[in-house]
Amino acid sequence: MKKFKRFLVTSALPYANGPVHIGHLAGVYIPSDIYVRYLRLRNKDVVWVCGSDEHGVPITLKAKKENKHPQEIVDQYHNIIKKSFEDFGISFDIYSRTSSKTHYETASEIFKTIYDKNGFIEKTTEQYYDSEAKQFLADRYITGTCPHCSYENAYGDQCEKCGTSLNATELINPKSAISGAKPELKETKHWFLPLDTYEPFLKKWILEDHKEWKPNVYGQCKSWIDQGLQPRAVSRDLDWGVPLPIENAEGKVLYVWFDAPIGYISATKELTNDWEKYWKDKETKMVHFIGKDNIVFHCIIFPAMLKAEGSYILPENVPANEFLNLEGDKISTSRNWAVWLHEYLNEFKEKQDVLRYVLTANAPETKDNDFTWKDFQARNNNELVAVLGNFINRTVVLTNKYFEGIVPERNNIDENDKEVLNQISLLKEKVEFSIENYRFREALKEAMNLARIGNKYLAETEPWKIFKTDIERVKTILNISLEITAALSVILEPFLPFTSVKIRNLLNIKKIDWDILGTKDLLFKDHKINTASLLFEKIEDEDIEFQINKLLNTKKYNLEDKKHEAVKESISFEDFQKLDIRTAKILEAEKVAKTKKLLKLLLDTGVDKRTVVSGIAEFFNPEEIIGKQVSVLLNLEPRKIKGIESQGMILMAEDNEGKLHFVKPSEDINVGAFIK
Ligand code: 2FM
Ligand code: ZN
Repeated sequence: MKKFKRFLVTSALPYANGPVHIGHLAGVYIPSDIYVRYLRLRNKDVVWVCGSDEHGVPITLKAKKENKHPQEIVDQYHNIIKKSFEDFGISFDIYSRTSSKTHYETASEIFKTIYDKNGFIEKTTEQYYDSEAKQFLADRYITGTCPHCSYENAYGDQCEKCGTSLNATELINPKSAISGAKPELKETKHWFLPLDTYEPFLKKWILEDHKEWKPNVYGQCKSWIDQGLQPRAVSRDLDWGVPLPIENAEGKVLYVWFDAPIGYISATKELTNDWEKYWKDKETKMVHFIGKDNIVFHCIIFPAMLKAEGSYILPENVPANEFLNLEGDKISTSRNWAVWLHEYLNEFKEKQDVLRYVLTANAPETKDNDFTWKDFQARNNNELVAVLGNFINRTVVLTNKYFEGIVPERNNIDENDKEVLNQISLLKEKVEFSIENYRFREALKEAMNLARIGNKYLAETEPWKIFKTDIERVKTILNISLEITAALSVILEPFLPFTSVKIRNLLNIKKIDWDILGTKDLLFKDHKINTASLLFEKIEDEDIEFQINKLLNTKKYNLEDKKHEAVKESISFEDFQKLDIRTAKILEAEKVAKTKKLLKLLLDTGVDKRTVVSGIAEFFNPEEIIGKQVSVLLNLEPRKIKGIESQGMILMAEDNEGKLHFVKPSEDINVGAFIK
């Protein structure tokens, strides 16, 4: 494996259009914090940059909604986000923002360099335009059905469901996100990065030279490259963003995904005059931490930009995580379905490490994962309190009780003592291997195994039982337990930095370098430790019920809100008549494998027997609904759902609790009857 002289770590710049939640932490910021803290403990030369992403449609849409200037929005959220990160110990070397002067200069320079090398194609094309709002519609200003996976709320630049990057003109049934109107096409000039010409380079660089990338990242890259890359517009007709630094481009700004990753460079410039050595020397290892929806931008578009510019290095790895769900549902800012970091800290004061622990232990590293409050409580009570806290507390209490807080000497050690001490260096190596391979869940598990070993050691040796008869043995046992405690303060530091400080305070020691761990003793005879105080406390059922109720209220509120939603736009009677809705009977029903919500139904519709896939599995057992009457929309275009062709849709009513019920005649009648 190549040895690098230094590290440059970047974490995705969050949009400054809302506060940050547990999904952000679990997906990007905790893994990168663990990685960087580990490198720092090893005295590596590392720089870690991040900042707010302050351009782009998410910001301007929010500004429009709140009737504010985009600058007001980004100022407000930049500060909230920055504070949340600080509060949770996310230890960036700099948290900058893309509205900074340095950033405008850097982004403009890079565009200009590529432009001067004839690296862009200048093209007038037809783009969607909202004539009501008098605005071109790009990116999130336009939504429609994804041509790849049929998701109905895909954005103009990307489908969040299947991850594909899109051009707005590819969307089926496009709709303006400003007015809801059907957009028209209008000519406009833009600058395109010819991604197609970078295809051979990307093929070799990713598909041949970076086979070690995580399967989710490698797989997404491969599928894009295999589909064939297209030139991509890097300018937009907007009044919020970095203006194009060339003549005859009034009213045009850089596409947010052109300027945002350059934010990593600007932030490094703001941090150090020596920034070029991190960005331009091949002996720097650059690693981008991102969420899965950012893969194409970091693995394909940004590298192509850097290659086009010519003087920058490329990332060595892009460890992207999957998504974290909350209590079974997708986290959503607009539906307020989230655990917001600032709210968490108000409700669980000083429990940053508990959340860091749970989000790492349950990180969505290889697949989407679910955060539940019950799991949060169980991990705190059964692991942090019962294993880690318990071991350290017993060690510190007994040392104070028997030896007035003075580290006792280690006498004759037996095989078991040796084995236990040996585990320090063994586990250290395992944690190193896992962190260096971006497997942070596994790394945390190994680190916690040291606490488990310590707990078991005390339980087996029972020093409290032999204090009166064999004080020499008790000295050895506590010396070894204290040594494990000191080792825990090092090995857990990347994961639980607040707890690590507390352990050092209990032991009255300074920060210890990672590399010393397992090579020599960390504590010496006659060193005085402090008196005990608890590292973790039990989380009670009522605290968890409070959180669960809060989410139930959000769900209720969202449904109520839906009920009061304005009546949809009127349609003509002819339009209504186009719907072919009839009664049908369920002949067969089974769960769709690997899904929570889907049932595959076979229906007798009176005209034929057909398959319909329906999202009702959470409310009905398949065997209970066989023979039931339903209403089915027969002439809905067939759609493939999880590989099954669904030929229609059954009608359901959603009650205030979000539960679904069949819509059907008041009593069962023949199948195939028209509903009109
Ligand atoms: O997806 C997002 O939240 C983007 N704001 C990430 C940007 S990462 C980078 F390139 F700046
Ligand atoms: Zn899609």
